[in-house]
Amino acid sequence: ADTLGDAAAEKGRYFGAAVAANHLGEAQYAATLNREFSSVTPENEMKWDALEPSRGSFSFSRADQIVGHAKGQGMSVRGHTLVWHSQLPGWVSQLGASDLRTAMNNHITQVMTHYKGEIHSWDVVNEAFQDGGSGARRSSPFQDKLGDGFIEEAFRTARAADSNAKLCYNDYNTDGVNAKSNAVYTMVRDFKARGVPIDCVGFQSHFNPNSPVPSDYQANLQRFADLGVDVQITELDIEGSGQAQAADYGNVVRACLAVSRCTGITVWGIPDKYSWRSSGTPLLFDDNYNKKPAYDAVLSALGGT
Ligand code: G3I
Repeated sequence: ADTLGDAAAEKGRYFGAAVAANHLGEAQYAATLNREFSSVTPENEMKWDALEPSRGSFSFSRADQIVGHAKGQGMSVRGHTLVWHSQLPGWVSQLGASDLRTAMNNHITQVMTHYKGEIHSWDVVNEAFQDGGSGARRSSPFQDKLGDGFIEEAFRTARAADSNAKLCYNDYNTDGVNAKSNAVYTMVRDFKARGVPIDCVGFQSHFNPNSPVPSDYQANLQRFADLGVDVQITELDIEGSGQAQAADYGNVVRACLAVSRCTGITVWGIPDKYSWRSSGTPLLFDDNYNKKPAYDAVLSALGGT
């Protein structure tokens, strides 16, 4: 195989990219996406502020554009994300507990119903835990007003809305074994023990010199898989360049391939110039869509040439 998507498919995995609707009209962007990737994640278009900017009023057109593009190309779609403290419209934060619960469940239900049958995996809840050593929940309107039970409630509502979509919990700085990933692990173990519907855990995998690929990355993916959930690498980017960056990318891909329940990898953008990181070169393609050494390392780790 000579593309990322085809090489990953030979290993039984998808290889995806975060996509922005406003770049789809750029010929080289679309050509690279269509040639290389088998899955897409809308980078911003399925967030709450984009889909329900005012209460009960939904605007699906930008997200629909990405889903339509993906369908036309035979790509699967990751839904990102239903319940998150960021990119949350102001009206949500102003609700009292009872209205907030209703609004959260309505948002999940409306969005998942709109996309029923079109989304492979949903990030039902994103980034609900604090950084640092506490293992505590992050303060958010959901956490502060609804308490710890909001995550369970969101997953139960999601399952009722679309029983075929895989339901994921997604977070960052949980890529290695640490206090934060231990807290997520404890939650997932509890959910599985009590029959709370959860199918997958997403490891964002935003790496940089201060937060390099952890040496226990594969072991961490494996311990979650051993709980009976799939694991996915959901937002991969690695700050760096040249062979060092390539080596890191290769290690990430090999870690996923070594874990049978690691079902796919998504990179958080296509060319460096569209990365969310305002400076740096964290992706697989340069600004002119040339393949970087990191691309070659990924393709080769996937068994392609
Ligand atoms: O849409 C507005 C536009 O109308 C306005 O003119 C422009 C001016 O700043 O801003 C636009 O919104 C920006 C939006 O991206 C769409 O381009 C926001 O300012 C900007 O903050 C937002 O950044 C996104 C970020 O999430 C916000 O939290 C990044 O593109 C996106 O890559 C990033 O993705 C997150 C994942 O969802 C969750 N994990 C971390 C990851 C990286 O931060």
